[in-house]
Amino acid sequence: MSTVLERPVPSETTSPWWRSAVIYQVYPRSFADSDGDGVGDLPGITSRLPYLAELGVDAVWLSPIYRSPMADAGYDVADYRVVDPLFGSSQDADLLIAEAHRLGLRVVLDLVPNHTSDEHAWFRAALAAPVGSEERSRYLFRDGRGESGELPPNSWRSVFGGPAWTRVTEPDGTPGQWYLHLFDDKQPDLDWTHPEVRAEFEDILRFWLDRGVDGFRVDVAHGLVKADGLPDWDHEQELLDGSSHGGERPPMWDQDGVHDIYRSWRRVLDEYDGDRMLVAEAWVEPAERLARYVRPDEMHQAFNFAFLSAGWRAADLRASISDSLQASATVGAPATWVLSNHDVVRHTTRLALPPDAPRPNGIGAQDPQPDEQLGLRRGRAASLVMLALPGSAYLYQGEELGLPEHTTLPDETRQDPSWFRHDGTVAGRDGCRVPLPWHADRPGFGFGPTGASWLPQPSSFARYAADVQSGDPGSTLELYRRALRLRAELGLGTGELVSWDDADDADDAALGFRLCGSTGAELVVTTNFGAQPLVLPTGAQVLLSSAPLDDAGRLPADATAWLAG
Ligand code: GLC
Ligand code: MG
Repeated sequence: MSTVLERPVPSETTSPWWRSAVIYQVYPRSFADSDGDGVGDLPGITSRLPYLAELGVDAVWLSPIYRSPMADAGYDVADYRVVDPLFGSSQDADLLIAEAHRLGLRVVLDLVPNHTSDEHAWFRAALAAPVGSEERSRYLFRDGRGESGELPPNSWRSVFGGPAWTRVTEPDGTPGQWYLHLFDDKQPDLDWTHPEVRAEFEDILRFWLDRGVDGFRVDVAHGLVKADGLPDWDHEQELLDGSSHGGERPPMWDQDGVHDIYRSWRRVLDEYDGDRMLVAEAWVEPAERLARYVRPDEMHQAFNFAFLSAGWRAADLRASISDSLQASATVGAPATWVLSNHDVVRHTTRLALPPDAPRPNGIGAQDPQPDEQLGLRRGRAASLVMLALPGSAYLYQGEELGLPEHTTLPDETRQDPSWFRHDGTVAGRDGCRVPLPWHADRPGFGFGPTGASWLPQPSSFARYAADVQSGDPGSTLELYRRALRLRAELGLGTGELVSWDDADDADDAALGFRLCGSTGAELVVTTNFGAQPLVLPTGAQVLLSSAPLDDAGRLPADATAWLAG
């Protein structure tokens, strides 16, 4: 089977950096600790920027660094213009941005507009002010139902479990109104119909753009506007779940009103030079609905969670890739690709699970333990598929080391609010947030100077430490380095997928596609999903492979090869 796709005419001769960028997500708590308190920080990140430049990425995205009580690891912001002292100072942020730029790396910050922390000055003022006050109108306060308002205003559920409403005690000590929080009760949702909310966030954008940041990842971008009247919606909610429940759009997600907000943000970014960008975290289905976030006058990119969620099967990946390319092409936006982030089980571990198993919210010691070697093989194979594709790719720190999820974290060390809000029945996201191993034989694997680490690291991290992988040609780190170098040399990010060349067999054992890089170079990508080794075309020149070929020159199971076209 070989389907030749129509080739789009490139609209621009030089393309802005973000159209093909590889963007590396740094989770600041867990990347590198400079002061030995066991929590990663900005000077730690800055000290490791040369490693990222050498890896070959184009940009770093930092999960939130702002002042926060850390009820949701910084996704609960108390002051959007100040760096949390745990991470350093504003000067440390300036130094980080300057050093990144010196090394040719862009810096993308995480903006959290759906909710603030309950310790934000606005929310404190709202609690102190009377019902119906201006202060309350920046959030979603409502009277309760029931005889004395003792029942929540509607049936919405929090994404982290439990009800999405919390009742407050009024300043006079009586039980009072309720406020909406789609996440933790320490993350009250803002009311985006309020003009001050809109003005404040445009100002925050300018504050950081003036400091030189190159863009923003927009947290929960599909949640800011709620349906009028907040109608009931009884379904359980889950992170990254964009399901529309039989075509009915949930009243808290993907409402048409969000787009006007992003049009106004785009105008702000366009006032600045240097191709500043916005990327949406929006769990929206289907791909055509997601494409609306990246229309020419809105955001530049949106994460592709359909690709992340695709099962380890040729047909699933093929469908996800081709749907994504088509949907983004209709609006002229680049496709994006992502396999791991700080909210999901790392793909090296996830891909060892049965392809039809629902995506788990964490894995605990009591759960069946995934096969680490199988996961690593598949994870490396999946990464080579992703890194060949046109558009932009997002990496999550540690995936370049092939790091597995920590699947046996002691319960008493867990910190994810979704673990607490599910009464410990759901492991949650801590397992993918464990501090990185830099040096195999230092305390805390060199995460910081003292060996302290806010979450315990598994002993297996010694095998994955960056220093033991660097220079070892069989390591995952070197695989990523070579893949990123080839991706840049062949112009794959700004290239095109020209045809599907899958082996025509009933078992759908192989995925195969041909790419044309913007340099004119051709590349064939082949993944073997079958149990048997795959015979490669005679004379094929293997540029890169996620696993060594066997003695007969065949591609083993669960491996991807890049062949010169
Ligand atoms: C996003 C973040 C996640 C956070 C949530 C609430 O989904 O990626 O980590 O908990 O928003 O801000
Ligand atoms: Mg520290």
